[in-house]
Amino acid sequence: MGERFLMKPEILPTHTSALFDAAVDRAAKLLCVGEIVALPTETVYGLAANALNAQAVEKIYHAKGRPSHNPIIVHVASLQMAQDCVANWPDGASRLVKSFWPGPLTIVLRKSDKVPEIVTAGGETVGVRWPSHPFIQAVIRKCGFPLAAPSANRSNEISPTTAEHVQKSLGAAVPLIVDGGAANVGIESTVIDLTLATPRILRPGMIHEESLSAALGERPAISTGATNTLRSPGMLPKHYAPKAKLVVLKWETAQDLKFKISDFNFPKECVHVVAYSRIPSHDDFGRISVIPHDPEAFARALYAELHRCDEEGAKLIVVEAPPDEGSWRGIADRLARAAG
Ligand code: TXA
Ligand code: MG
Repeated sequence: MGERFLMKPEILPTHTSALFDAAVDRAAKLLCVGEIVALPTETVYGLAANALNAQAVEKIYHAKGRPSHNPIIVHVASLQMAQDCVANWPDGASRLVKSFWPGPLTIVLRKSDKVPEIVTAGGETVGVRWPSHPFIQAVIRKCGFPLAAPSANRSNEISPTTAEHVQKSLGAAVPLIVDGGAANVGIESTVIDLTLATPRILRPGMIHEESLSAALGERPAISTGATNTLRSPGMLPKHYAPKAKLVVLKWETAQDLKFKISDFNFPKECVHVVAYSRIPSHDDFGRISVIPHDPEAFARALYAELHRCDEEGAKLIVVEAPPDEGSWRGIADRLARAAG
């Protein structure tokens, strides 16, 4: 994995405007010479390379251990830059962009000749996103080219929402990690495919179906499970998984919860519970994390909680099942995948 860089990665803070500008310069300098850089976005941290440089993008696949059949999202910082990456720009794209860009929405369109095949894993389509985080916007503007960036974690691990998560997962495999604080959205962008007769949500996220319908003026289809594996490999079940076993459950009392997990036979210290409404007692489990009963707050906190459970040696993570509502669907999707 991290053979290319034997030294520790450089880690740059951004919390004053001088530090921010210095980190933008350093990141842009590396990206311009075909290097990879881990940097913050509002969803999760990304591992970026010049999207128009096939050799630079190759380094992303290598550092992540990512299968070559999984395409990478291209990040832009203007409408013009997005339009340069695609072969056509349907009305639906204009409607979505007006409502949701910059922000956590990736739009899949037919690719233009500018985008190398390695970015799209040989496919005819490309996912484009204009992120709202000021750091990645500043870097893209400084570079003048779009950035290919998947989440900055080893393939199949939980996405990083802090610079520390990136360091733990990729460590010496990247020369530079930029610390832009904790990600504000907390789960990966919604991915919508506009190359089909009916728009199709390939990956649910915090911009949910109801909002997309309202912006598009038509109801998008939703991909589920196996039908989708070729269109968007990131949607394979068992993706975004913690090291511990994860189960999603509903329960009434602590007694009820203990009964429901009794078959797993783990000592109570190794069972960590993530809950928002039925909060059991600390005496009965190794750790209880309480997340607010609000989808935005829940998404923002979720991955950090899963990372923490892994670090503290949890063998079983029990997450309270989210409500069956549109605004929780992205979270329910990631939990189902983490549970495998
Ligand atoms: O929020 C995000 O989207 C983050 C940040 C860094 O922008 N990126 C991210 O990238 O989550 P990644 O590579 O971990 O997940 C990208 C997802 C995968 O499920 C991939 O299969 C899908 O988007 N995808 C990318 N390009 C696609 C395409 N042309 N057609 C279909 N699916 C695509
Ligand atoms: Mg990922």
